[in-house]
Amino acid sequence: MVSSLQTNEVTATDTTVFEPRLIAFLCNWCTYTGADLAGTSRLQYPPNIRVIRLMCSGALDPVYVLKALLEGADGVLIGGCHPGDCHYVSGNYKARRRVAILKEILTQMGFDEDRVWLRWISASEGRLFADTVEEMVTALRAKGPNPLKGVWAI
Ligand code: FES
Repeated sequence: MVSSLQTNEVTATDTTVFEPRLIAFLCNWCTYTGADLAGTSRLQYPPNIRVIRLMCSGALDPVYVLKALLEGADGVLIGGCHPGDCHYVSGNYKARRRVAILKEILTQMGFDEDRVWLRWISASEGRLFADTVEEMVTALRAKGPNPLKGVWAI
């Protein structure tokens, strides 16, 4: 009886302690500006995210997504302009293709590809940005820590 209570206490503690770390690669013209709007609109979202600004989602080398995952991130969010709205015409289409291939590779490595999200969020969608971060943090809390960062750590 006592040990079952102790087990429950440990589980509850573990759940409350784990806070996923997210790296976000955001396009300057849409999602980064949307994130900025979320901030200036004082919308609340979890502070688990660290943002890296790119000029376009098409400028993201998938190696940096892998690097983030292998070096401690529990998830990676890639944000770009909606299809047809990329300021460099087709960067977001290239990003979409690269992320699809990256997810195939992650799956073949035995990695949960749902830790990498690609979302289209425009400069006027501060609410969508805040909701996306909230949704991703909730999903990653449920998944637990990224298992590969320990396995692949040097
Ligand atoms: S400029 Fe935003 S995705 Fe290309």
